Amino acid sequence: MESSISKATIERKRARKALQHRKPYFCGNYRGYYNKRKNPATNDDSRLALFKRDWFEERNILDIGCNSGDLTIAIARKFRPKTTLGIDIDSVLIRKANEGIKQDAETKDFENIKFETEDWMAETVVGQKFDTICLFSVSKWIHLYHGDEGIKRCFRKIYESLNDNGIFLFEPQEYKSYKKYKKISEITLENYNNIKFRPEHFHKYLMDELGFRIFQKLGRSESSTEGKNICVPNESDMCVRASGK
Ligand SMILES: C[S@@+](CC[C@H](N)C(=O)[O-])C[C@H]1O[C@@H](n2cnc3c(N)ncnc32)[C@H](O)[C@@H]1O
Repeated sequence: MESSISKATIERKRARKALQHRKPYFCGNYRGYYNKRKNPATNDDSRLALFKRDWFEERNILDIGCNSGDLTIAIARKFRPKTTLGIDIDSVLIRKANEGIKQDAETKDFENIKFETEDWMAETVVGQKFDTICLFSVSKWIHLYHGDEGIKRCFRKIYESLNDNGIFLFEPQEYKSYKKYKKISEITLENYNNIKFRPEHFHKYLMDELGFRIFQKLGRSESSTEGKNICVPNESDMCVRASGK
């Protein structure tokens, strides 16, 4: 018993140290993140090539965890959604995203793009519904900070915030990439140690429990160091949320 208590104390001390060390990156809120997402050949975010126009054009889009807004703005510029809302928990990144719209000559008159500081996991009811919701490389952070129940709540909130036949675009991080960050804090360590609902189980949950209709793998984005899959659950090659559920 005594040895397990001292082991837990040591783990907590380590976690605190790691937290201090990694403070600016506590939930994936990297600065300069988009330098590593570029396809060197095109200088674009390599994920853009995987997206279909129909998923965005003339639609109301929500991008959860948009970081400094580079991909959100690139999507808006390429596919011209009706409205685009990017949210991120980090206000510094949101300020940068808002500066990005102002500075970008092509997007400065995009009055239909907005960036707001918001925690998707806050217990607020989303008043608005969207046609397409993006969650790219955010699920690991929500999972580590909120555990299995939290990531399920995140998916449920997304489902409930989509219009009928709305599309959920999702880039989950692989489970093996969680380990490196488990000691960011005591809570992430505890959640990590209790994870039973792994990314390889997300698909079944989205389809069988929530009611998304089709799950389509979009493939890997070339520039990504970890080589991530982007998945869209929907019918044939688009759409997602079953009507009337
Ligand atoms: C690794 S970045 C991914 C950025 C962007 N989605 C992309 O793939 O290009 C993860 C982002 O999620 C944000 N984030 C983490 N937890 C969040 C939450 N609960 N609500 C909103 N944003 C969150 C972080 O601040 C960070 O900017």
